[in-house]
Amino acid sequence: MKLVPAIILHLLPSPVLSEARSIAKVPGRGRRKPGAIMRARREKDLRLFIRPSSVNAMPKENDSRDQRMITLFRKWSLFYDSKIVRLLYFDRVQPYIVKELSLVLKNLQGKSLRCIDVACGTGEILCRLAGEFPDVSFVGVDLSDDMIDVARAKCGAMPNIQFVSANAIRLPFEDNFFDLSICTDAIHHFSVPEKILAELYRITNRTGWVFVADPAYDTLFQRIIVGTFGITLDKPIRYYPKKDLRAMIAGAGFSPISPGYKYFTNVFLAQKR
Ligand SMILES: C[S@@+](CC[C@H](N)C(=O)[O-])C[C@H]1O[C@@H](n2cnc3c(N)ncnc32)[C@H](O)[C@@H]1O
Repeated sequence: MKLVPAIILHLLPSPVLSEARSIAKVPGRGRRKPGAIMRARREKDLRLFIRPSSVNAMPKENDSRDQRMITLFRKWSLFYDSKIVRLLYFDRVQPYIVKELSLVLKNLQGKSLRCIDVACGTGEILCRLAGEFPDVSFVGVDLSDDMIDVARAKCGAMPNIQFVSANAIRLPFEDNFFDLSICTDAIHHFSVPEKILAELYRITNRTGWVFVADPAYDTLFQRIIVGTFGITLDKPIRYYPKKDLRAMIAGAGFSPISPGYKYFTNVFLAQKR
């Protein structure tokens, strides 16, 4: 009985694809801009790998914690990219993260690389990478439609980025699909981070890489600063000392793990083998 609605839903046009089609059409002339065609094609290529129960057709089945997260980031989407927030935190850590990720992409061999940012927020990291690597296909996924809207408005027109609204716990992608999987500043929001890391492992290809960053919770000073900021967020959130997060990443199957640190943020680069 479940099969019939699933097939019907799958046959429905994807909003993402219809959006791509409308963008690709030049009004009045019925011709397509080369960039728009490329974007539509890439989205179609991507769509081929999205499971039949794609996010566009599948209810997100969010639990109450997810709902709180959606409410929280509805508010945050209004000022997440504001100058003051950027000045206090993101401008200090994101250039470092983008530099590290650029090195990984430069070192990855092969054409048609795919990179995903899970819980991408307003897509800042992907926007920067997509400009630097026009031949790489980037996908940003987030639970919050409001954060995704900001990301789309900012860089959704770039031909090599697609944003998808989905829960990180059930990512709508085939196994081994991405060469590089990113998750920054989001682990502390997940109720069971191990499940998200397992999803990252599943969607990362056999020789691919994962990059995880999250606020550091090691020294007393970090605990005071990070913990104080955490009070401004809706509970429950949980920060992890470096060794715990490292153990979780290893537990998901990634190795070897190279740790790094920048401005109250622990980062880890690891490979799926
Ligand atoms: C602090 S923001 C980080 C955004 C971005 N990665 C960055 O580094 O700026 C955390 C993001 O995690 C997203 N998020 C929380 N729970 C999620 C879930 N279960 N699935 C997908 N995204 C989730 C939120 O909507 C929010 O955009």
